[in-house]
Amino acid sequence: MEIFAILVCIFLFLSTLVISFPFIKKNKPTSKPKLPPGSMGWPYIGQTLQLYSQHPNIFFASKQKRYGEIFKTHILGCPCVMLASPEAARFVLVTHSHLFKPTYPKSKEKLIGSSALFFHQGDYHTRIRKLVQTSLSPESIKKLIPDIETQVISSLESWVSVRHVINAFCEMKKFSFNIGILSVFGNLENNYREQLKENYSIVEKGYNSFPTRIPGTAYSKALLARKRIHEIISEIICKKREQKLIEKVLLSHLLNYKDEKEEMLTDEEIADNVIGVLFAAQDTTASVLTWILKYLHDDQKLLEAVKAEQMSIYEANERGKIPLSWNQTRNMPITHRVILESLRMSSIISFTFREAVVDVVYKGYLIPKGWKVMPLFRNIHHNPEFYVNPQSFDPSRFEVSPKPYTFMPFGNGVHSCPGNELAKLNMLILIHHLVTKFRWEVEGYESGVEYSPFPIPMHGLPTRFLRD
Ligand code: HEM
Ligand SMILES: *[C@@H]1O[C@H](CO)[C@@H](O)[C@H](O)[C@H]1NC(C)=O
Ligand SMILES: *[C@@H]1O[C@H](CO)[C@@H](O)[C@H](O)[C@H]1NC(C)=O
Repeated sequence: MEIFAILVCIFLFLSTLVISFPFIKKNKPTSKPKLPPGSMGWPYIGQTLQLYSQHPNIFFASKQKRYGEIFKTHILGCPCVMLASPEAARFVLVTHSHLFKPTYPKSKEKLIGSSALFFHQGDYHTRIRKLVQTSLSPESIKKLIPDIETQVISSLESWVSVRHVINAFCEMKKFSFNIGILSVFGNLENNYREQLKENYSIVEKGYNSFPTRIPGTAYSKALLARKRIHEIISEIICKKREQKLIEKVLLSHLLNYKDEKEEMLTDEEIADNVIGVLFAAQDTTASVLTWILKYLHDDQKLLEAVKAEQMSIYEANERGKIPLSWNQTRNMPITHRVILESLRMSSIISFTFREAVVDVVYKGYLIPKGWKVMPLFRNIHHNPEFYVNPQSFDPSRFEVSPKPYTFMPFGNGVHSCPGNELAKLNMLILIHHLVTKFRWEVEGYESGVEYSPFPIPMHGLPTRFLRD
């Protein structure tokens, strides 16, 4: 009986294959993957204006509600596919990352330098990334703690000494730039640091302005400043080569690198990557620090808890006479959760861009070659399926680890942020000194978000710092 049934099954199965084969073939055009749903907006301007004129949560959430986890749209003149689920982010950034390359506007690539690692894919990227990762690994950044503390204390002292209200974001930027310099160059002579800072701020102003070479425009000034930065870095490289520097910072890793053919990196490649890292480190860290100031200011009970945690470390260190140890920075659970929750809430890198290098099919949808692909970190971080009551600031939710691919403030996969440990370390150290010795008041408080280009609190959070 059984044998008979099986034979019948096999026969039926084979006959369906035979019968349906030409049938399938004929029908192939209809089973061709289709484009994802969504509206493309007006040509060129597309939905860019909507993206930048609304609160970031609203733009993406309304799209996702309408179309689901994958939809198409137009951003800055490019057709693109937005992806709003953890699986889709994993597909693009991790499991199928070779099908998607990083993509930036040429005008921006020129300002940072085309050899900077985040524009690349493949061998060159892997080589440079290894150097950057080594110089930013826990082993390396441990040694930076005393210098970071010195920088933190000097920044805090300067904010108190002005006595009036300051733009917290601007100040956090200066702080983050100095830490960036520290992690790239180690201790750098003051005059170089000042020259880099001045010229860098000109580059920044051009970065988000209209790209034209007409003299006098922000963009053309930025290109000139970029050239001067290159000259400054070349001079530093020259000096450091003579000194045979021993400091294990990014610059020395870049200078000492030799590939299998004993070839070294060119000065151009070194300079582009130095500028790239400074660029990646500054506004990101500063934006998150500004949000942390706001969130802690808005929740005094939470601030008290953070303060209690930091005070016990401060007392153990004889009220700041003994410097912070690496171990202590690893044992600040409440403060650490405040940082994680601030990263989730603010999601300052709301999404990233890739470009499909071939036609790709994801869950039956076609992503045509050349189209941009945007994994939407913010949507994932604000999805009630993964974060209960996502709009409320609640660090205790991080008492349990988030599910895989639902927490990506530092991206994921081959291009994920190599500076994430350093960024967190900076924040921990700044919070430690801030809450143990100072307090702050937010003045003329206005809720709302502005773009710097990352989302930051309105007006950069006007704040007055006071000694406690
Ligand atoms: C809170 C602060 C920071 C945030 C939220 C952040 C976020 C990110 C994200 C999301 C990416 C991946 C972008 C993508 O996949 O397209 C990234 C890449 C990168 N970040 Fe960060 N970052 C921060 C701080 C830093 C710092 C302090 C450094 C260096 C000192 C740094 C250096 C880099 C570099 C070099 C890349 C490019 C990596 C590659 O392409 O392989 N970042 N960052
Ligand atoms: C920029 O760098 C140059 C050195 O290349 C330096 O002379 C100048 O003072 C710096 N600052 C500005 C604003 O140009
Ligand atoms: C690190 O900190 C933990 C908790 O504060 C402590 O139990 C441990 O002994 C410390 N380890 C070192 C090596 O200091």
